[in-house]
Amino acid sequence: MSRLVFEPITLRGMTARNRLWVPPMCQYSVEAQDGVATDWHMVHLGGLARGGAGAVIVEATAVTPEGRISPQDLGLWNDEQRDALAPIVGFMQSQGTKAGIQLAHAGRKASTYRTFEPERSGSVPVSDGGWQTVAPSALAYPELAEPQALDQAGIKQLIAAFQAAARRAVDAGFDFIEVHGAHGYLLHEFLSPLSNTRDDDYGGSLENRARFLLQVVDVIREEVPDDMPLFVRLSAVDWIDTGLTIDDTVQVVRWLDEHGVDLIDVSSGSNLPAKIPSGPGYQVKFAETIRERTGVPTAAVGLITQPFQAEHILTTGQADVVLVGRESLRNANFPIHAAQVLRHKTPPTPIQYHRAYR
Ligand SMILES: Cc1cc2nc3c(=O)[nH]c(=O)nc-3n(C[C@H](O)[C@H](O)[C@H](O)COP(=O)(O)O)c2cc1C
Repeated sequence: MSRLVFEPITLRGMTARNRLWVPPMCQYSVEAQDGVATDWHMVHLGGLARGGAGAVIVEATAVTPEGRISPQDLGLWNDEQRDALAPIVGFMQSQGTKAGIQLAHAGRKASTYRTFEPERSGSVPVSDGGWQTVAPSALAYPELAEPQALDQAGIKQLIAAFQAAARRAVDAGFDFIEVHGAHGYLLHEFLSPLSNTRDDDYGGSLENRARFLLQVVDVIREEVPDDMPLFVRLSAVDWIDTGLTIDDTVQVVRWLDEHGVDLIDVSSGSNLPAKIPSGPGYQVKFAETIRERTGVPTAAVGLITQPFQAEHILTTGQADVVLVGRESLRNANFPIHAAQVLRHKTPPTPIQYHRAYR
C-alpha cells in the first residue's frame, strides 16, 4: 500500500524521500561551550537519519556567540564549527536523509541555563559565563535579564552574521536552511508587538516589524545556491490578544514567499507566557490556514505522535510535511515504525538491518 507520508517531496532542487521529518531540537550538549558539535550530535542526529526520516533539521544553531540560548548550544560563527558539522551532515545523507540546519539568534532569551541544569534556571550571569542579551527593545522576558535594544548598526551586523552562517552551512554540505523566526527568539521578538516597541524602520507597522526577518532571508537567499530550499519557522500566533495574529502571519508569509522562501514551518507561541490549548495536533490548523491562504507549502508540528495522524494531516491537505519531535526522541525509528503500522511496502530501513524486517 502506498501512503502519502512516504511520497517523496521536492522543494526547489531538493527531493526528500518521505514527509516524516524531524524538527530542530536543542541538545544543550556542547560541554566545551565553544559551539562545536560533538560525538553526541553525531550519534543523536545520525540515529534519527538511520531511523528513516526524510529530513532532519539540526537544532537552533547560533549565528553569533551571544545568539545562543545557553552556553552549551551549537554555533556556526567560525570554521571549526562548520568542519565539525560536515561529517555529521555526510552521515545523515549517507542514510538517505536530507540534512537541514536551523540558524538562530535567541535575542532576549539568550544566555539562559539549559533546561536540564540541576537547580539552576533563568539568566546565566556574566560571572558564570553568561552575556548581555540584545533585543528590539529593552523589555525583559519575565524572570530573565533585561536586554539591550539593538541599534541599526547592531542589526546590520547580525544580518551579516546570518549570511556568514548560511555560507558555512552550504560549505558543511547541508541540503537546506531553516531560519528561526519563532518561539520568542530574536526575529520573532522583532515581528511581535509584544516585544517590539521601536519607533524606527524596524518597529511600528507589521511591515517594519518584518523588515529584519526579510533582510535576513534576502542575504541568505543571495548567499546560497539557487536550488537550495530555504524555510522559515514562525510562531503563527502569540496566543495573546495584543500579540501576533494569524492574519498578521499570513501577510508575513506572503512577503516571505516573494523573497524566495520555500516552506513555512508552523509553530506558535513562546514570546511571552500564555495559556495554550495544547493537545494532539494543536498547531496543525495554523499550517492549514497558511497553506490555504498563501499557497506556500507548510510543515505541521506539535504533538503529532501517531502514524495515522500524520497521514491524515497530509491526505486532508493541511500540510506538505509532518515534523515529529519528542516522539522521535522516544523512538528514533519512528518512520520505520510508521511504515509498519501503515503497511507501507518499502519501509525506510538501513540496508544493514534488512534481515530484521524480512
Ligand atoms: C528537547 C527539545 C528541544 C527543542 N529545540 C528546539 C529548537 O532548537 N528550535 C526550535 O525551533 N524548536 C525547538 N523545539 C520545539 C520542537 O522543534 C517542536 O516544535 C516541539 O517539540 C513540538 O513538537 P512535538 O510535539 O512533536 O515535540 C524543541 C523541543 C524539544 C522537546
